[in-house]
Amino acid sequence: MPIRSRPAAPPASDLLAWYDRAGRDLPWRVKGGHADPYRVWLSEIMLQQTTVEAVKPYFAKFLALWPDVKALAAADDQAVMTAWAGLGYYARARNLLACARVVAADFDGRFPETEEALRALPGIGAYTAAAIAAIAFGARAVVIDGNIERVVTRLAAIETPLPRAKPEIRAVLDAMVPPDRPGDFAQGLMDLGATICTPKSPSCLLCPLAERCVARARGQATAFPVKPAKKGKKPLQSLAFVLIDPQRRLLLRTRPATGLLAGMAEVPNTVWAAERAGTENTVMEVAPVPAEWRRLNQPVIHIFTHIDLRMDIAVARLSREVPAPAGMRWVPLDALDAEPLPTLFRKVIEAGLRALG
Ligand code: ADE
Repeated sequence: MPIRSRPAAPPASDLLAWYDRAGRDLPWRVKGGHADPYRVWLSEIMLQQTTVEAVKPYFAKFLALWPDVKALAAADDQAVMTAWAGLGYYARARNLLACARVVAADFDGRFPETEEALRALPGIGAYTAAAIAAIAFGARAVVIDGNIERVVTRLAAIETPLPRAKPEIRAVLDAMVPPDRPGDFAQGLMDLGATICTPKSPSCLLCPLAERCVARARGQATAFPVKPAKKGKKPLQSLAFVLIDPQRRLLLRTRPATGLLAGMAEVPNTVWAAERAGTENTVMEVAPVPAEWRRLNQPVIHIFTHIDLRMDIAVARLSREVPAPAGMRWVPLDALDAEPLPTLFRKVIEAGLRALG
């Protein structure tokens, strides 16, 4: 579909005035100046797929443990994965460490300044390269994330569905980015998208761009961005085993080095399958260790990007010590904090331990 109309003039100054007044104060942010590239990079990696509020405590923890990129580069892999546990999308943590090591080894701890050079680093895609270049180095980069897509598709009433609309969004934005404050401009749009131009009930009366917004003029702000037809998520099911031995140790193993939650810790669980496997009779057949297994009524439901997972739980308490099966290990319950356990398995373990009393 053609773009019927576009904002008459670049509204950057209205947006920047609003950002100076109402933009959020965030720990990695320096309004009106250039922020430390390490803090910008760390926050941007954490903010991929994760909300600002969820990121804040992790950002503080990482800075306390590893105050600069060289300190992070020298960190132990397991310590980084453990500090990341709970944030999700764990490939980000592995790439974070890989990136820190390249920056420390090849760039003497100083991040490169251009989008192109940043893009070549592990875990840095087009969005993140543009964000770091603009926010940390003042480069006139065109930064586009989900919030910015929403603001721009409304501003210009772009009717092409996402993701096909991306080139149009880029063209509209490219004409708007001010050469002097590209980082503040990008963050102003992000904040506008997060606080005012929200998906379901935008507060157009408070919006500094309302007068130039074509979707608003048509009374159709929430009709944009136009979304493609939805694909369903895959429903998968598994059975997890929460097993405690007489020394109050839990049976754990490490996930394979590739794939979902790669390299993270987990309790033993059956292959995630489309069909409901493991009825009362088969728990024993698939359990990692013979025991008096009890199957709980309540599963843990966990939503990944492409998967709706239903994880049923079986629990047992051993009356004697047994060696851990091949590839598994016994971990004392009071040492679980040092394990890189993703949220899914923390929930499973909590439910299992509660049932065991
Ligand atoms: N989301 C991703 N990066 C951000 C930033 N710099 N400010 C606010 N929200 C963000």
